[in-house]
Amino acid sequence: MSLLRKKSIASMLQEKVTGSGVGGMKKELGVFDLAMLGIGCIVGTGIFVLTGVAAAQHAGPGLILSFILAGIVCAFCALCYAEFASMVPVSGSAYTYSYATFGELIAWILGWDLVLEYGFAASMVASGWSGYFQGMISGMGIQLPTALSSAFDPANGTYVDLPAILIVLVLTFIVSRGSKESSRLNSLMVLVKIAVILLFIVVGAFYVKPGNWTPFMPFGFSGVVTGAATAFLSYIGFDAVATAAEEVKNPQRDLPRGILWSLVTCSLLYVLVTAVLTGIVPFAELNVKNPVAFALQYINQNWVAGFISLGAIVGITTVLFVLLFGQSRLLYAIGRDGLLPKPLARLNPKTGVPANSTWVTGVVVAIFAGLIPLGRLADLVSIGTLFAFISVSLGIIILRKSRPDLNRTFKVPLVPWIPALAVLTCGYLLTSLPAVTWIAFLIWMALGLAVYFAYGYKHSELSR
Ligand code: ALA
Repeated sequence: MSLLRKKSIASMLQEKVTGSGVGGMKKELGVFDLAMLGIGCIVGTGIFVLTGVAAAQHAGPGLILSFILAGIVCAFCALCYAEFASMVPVSGSAYTYSYATFGELIAWILGWDLVLEYGFAASMVASGWSGYFQGMISGMGIQLPTALSSAFDPANGTYVDLPAILIVLVLTFIVSRGSKESSRLNSLMVLVKIAVILLFIVVGAFYVKPGNWTPFMPFGFSGVVTGAATAFLSYIGFDAVATAAEEVKNPQRDLPRGILWSLVTCSLLYVLVTAVLTGIVPFAELNVKNPVAFALQYINQNWVAGFISLGAIVGITTVLFVLLFGQSRLLYAIGRDGLLPKPLARLNPKTGVPANSTWVTGVVVAIFAGLIPLGRLADLVSIGTLFAFISVSLGIIILRKSRPDLNRTFKVPLVPWIPALAVLTCGYLLTSLPAVTWIAFLIWMALGLAVYFAYGYKHSELSR
């Protein structure tokens, strides 16, 4: 039974994370700030990088449909996140609040899963950053040696992605200094991102050849579903909105609106970008790491392509920053609970930052980003995220029955139908992921259980 031991919500509210920027929170955020936060975390590698490969190899122009499908799935999940956040308004993640509701073992599994999601997402985003960075410097006539330009792939002569490693280490250093992304800086960067995307859509629209949209689904509907799993990645980040619950003036009203506005805005941008992208370039030629800038070079709009690269680099940097930040806080929370070694929860007395977990995160992410090819990272992020979303959605159904007493300032409409649809649609996307991803995921989870039984079970704070 001790596998099901739970932390009380009251005790969690007391031990608010020190140094994560969430202690003694001011309730300042409104719908606009939340939407900016959401878009800031959402728009990144997915749209700027992965769309190209997804269109070329999986979905063709049907990628437009993939983005619509993935957006609908995410909307279901986002509603569930909103209810969870309003029910257990403690900053953290699915890990923290599942500790109070499902008990330790499930919390650990989710925490371990989120480590995979954030860690690999950060590696993937760093790799995407590198693609754009190299695209930009090559425009200035600077070319990295092939061996240092991309992840380990001796067949193509590449061994390590040096820019990806460097950006991760630089951002880790910034995170470790305790510099917080201020809401204003975030909004500014988000506006740059949105401006760049709008620029692409407006300029690109003039060069669309509708003929490029046929055949619409060259790889059939199953290709569109595979594309949706990739598109799904592009929407990750709205859960960051849900974790801001404590800082929202009127969470009951603003949280769901903030989440939904960021999703609606991103869906709209994504669908338009995909339509223009596949309308300009025949899908088979999109097999590149910087498709959005590439499309503009394709139509000889090189100066616009330069702007796009710069905007994409700024935009992807914020996503990476937030992911590294989130991962370090997650390790900190798990370490504080005793499920991972305590030093992870040690705060630097000067900066108030969990320095050990920040550097562990940074070094591991840098190694993965430097060595593993982008596509494989992306699938692992998808599987980890889908698993987390399914758990959160199931949690909503279960808790409505088992804990009707909990105060919910936001309720998912039409329970159990919407969470059930979230579970089913996420499950459907899961089935489209390749076997090798599943095997890697199961190995990761088995490793997690081994770590729990060898270490966490005995060292848990709750075992005292
Ligand atoms: N949604 C984030 C991105 O596309 C992970 O970069």
